[in-house]
Parts: sequence; structure tokens; C-alpha cells
Amino acid sequence: MSSFSDSLEGRTAIVTGACGGIGRATCERLAAEGVRIVLVDIEEESAQAFAASLGTEVYVAAVDVGDPDAVSSAHRRIAKDFGDADILVNCAGILSNNKLKATSAEEWRKVMAVNLDSALYWSQAVVPAMQDKKFGRIINIASFAWKAGGLTAGTAYTASKGGMISLTFSVALEFAAEGITVNGIAPCYVMTPMVTEQLSAQQRSELLEKLPVKRFCTPEEVAHSVRYLASPLSGFITGEIIDMNGGLQFD
Ligand SMILES: NC(=O)c1ccc[n+]([C@@H]2O[C@H](COP(=O)([O-])OP(=O)(O)OC[C@H]3O[C@@H](n4cnc5c(N)ncnc54)[C@H](O)[C@@H]3O)[C@@H](O)[C@H]2O)c1
Repeated sequence: MSSFSDSLEGRTAIVTGACGGIGRATCERLAAEGVRIVLVDIEEESAQAFAASLGTEVYVAAVDVGDPDAVSSAHRRIAKDFGDADILVNCAGILSNNKLKATSAEEWRKVMAVNLDSALYWSQAVVPAMQDKKFGRIINIASFAWKAGGLTAGTAYTASKGGMISLTFSVALEFAAEGITVNGIAPCYVMTPMVTEQLSAQQRSELLEKLPVKRFCTPEEVAHSVRYLASPLSGFITGEIIDMNGGLQFD
């Protein structure tokens, strides 16, 4: 194989939040390249229907990613029935727009469990087999909120994404010598139900005014960044966060 080989053919990916806007685009993009995919989502019916539409080998795991026992038993089944993952995309997430005073302890815990704890649980599950293979790609879908303080997003959501970035750095450093890369993607305002259902028309037009590129991001563009980070040729990139913020912040 050429040293320029970028092929993902035959690799196995676990994608959490697979039925959402970004998750779907990611699965479709990876499937088109011959990747075998484990669809992880809490919405079992929609995961089964989506699985049937993907032209690749698929496995559905209906699981609440914020529940550590559910994740570890789902992962045991996946490993036994479908094999070990080469690629993990932590994409499951929930949005909450409540700012500090309106954030209840219950909401804080729920958002942290789904957005942050889940990335820890899935990373812990996949890393041992990646160490054995000396190859792994962990890709965490964070958010521009982590460094913008959350423009419209609330306190718990913003803190969960900041935590995800630190988790990315920590795990990247720990496994850098073992062929495992851990990176994040920090998008803002991707056209998925998360944006269309939760922002008013007025909020959307104000945001478009502020965005230098004058449009929202597409799920396909995020999937493209996932694919880039998953590449065998991206092995020298670890602990990196790809900003997808349409020029809102340069650094
Ligand atoms: N859409 C955006 O503007 C945007 C911007 C920045 C970051 N993100 C992040 O990208 C990721 C995907 O977002 P999206 O826009 O595709 O959202 P989405 O709402 O379309 O999809 C989220 C998916 O996660 C699943 N999910 C929710 N809770 C779950 C749980 N407990 N267990 C398992 N699955 C669960 C949902 O069923 C859904 O399929 C999220 O982590 C989100 O925070 C989105």
C-alpha cells in the first residue's frame, strides 16, 4: 500500500448520536468509503430504519450513552458480535440554552452525562483494542461554545463542551505513543434539528448577520472533518481541535 494511502475500507467505526443531523451525515460519509458502522443512539426505531438505508455492514446499539453500565454492556455486545472499533465518533449530545441562574442541578447532571460523561465511557471501552492494534481514531464533536462562552447555548452545555475539549487533550497525550489519535471538532450553528427547532427565526437572522461566512454550517461539512481526522494519514494530528465557526473567531 502506498504511503499516501488514505483508505478507510474495512475499518470499523462506532458513531454515537448516529440518528442526529451530524451523526447521520458522518455515517453516510464513512459508509460511502467502505467503513463498517455501529450506530449508537437512544432512538432505536430511527436507528434501525437508518441502518437499513446505509449501504455497508451495520450494527445497531440502542443505548443511553450517559449510563455507564448501559455503555459497557452495549460495548461488550458490539465487540463480540461485530468486532472492535478502529474509529470512535462521540457525537451524541443534547442542547440546553439555560444560563447560570436558570440551570437546575438535574439539568446540569443530565447535560454532563450525555455530552461529556458518554465520551469518557466510550473512550474507555474502545481504547484497549486500539492499543492492541496500535491504531485508533477518537473524534469528539464539541462545540464553538467551549471558547465563546456559549453565544446562545446555556451554562451546562457550554461547560460540557469545555470538558470534552480537556478530555480530548488528556486522552490524546496519554495514548499518543500508541497510534491512537484523539481530536475534537468545534462547530457552531450546523443546520440540524438542534438549530432549526431551538432557535427562533429572529435569532437565526441575527446570527447570520454576525457570521462572516453569512451562512450556517452543514452536517456534511462536519462529516468531512470527521473523515479527515479518521484518515490513516492524520496520524500526526492529535490533541487538535478543528474550528468550524465560519470566521467568528480566528486563532
Ligand atoms: N447543530 C449544531 O449547531 C451543533 C453545533 C456544535 C456542536 N454540535 C454538537 O454536535 C453533536 C450532534 O448534534 P446534532 O446537531 O446532530 O444534534 P441532533 O439533535 O440532530 O442529534 C443528536 C443525536 O443524539 C442522540 N441522543 C441524544 N441523547 C442521547 C442519549 N442519552 N443516548 C444516545 N443518544 C442520544 C439523539 O437521539 C440524536 O440522534 C452534539 O454533540 C452537539 O452538541 C451541534
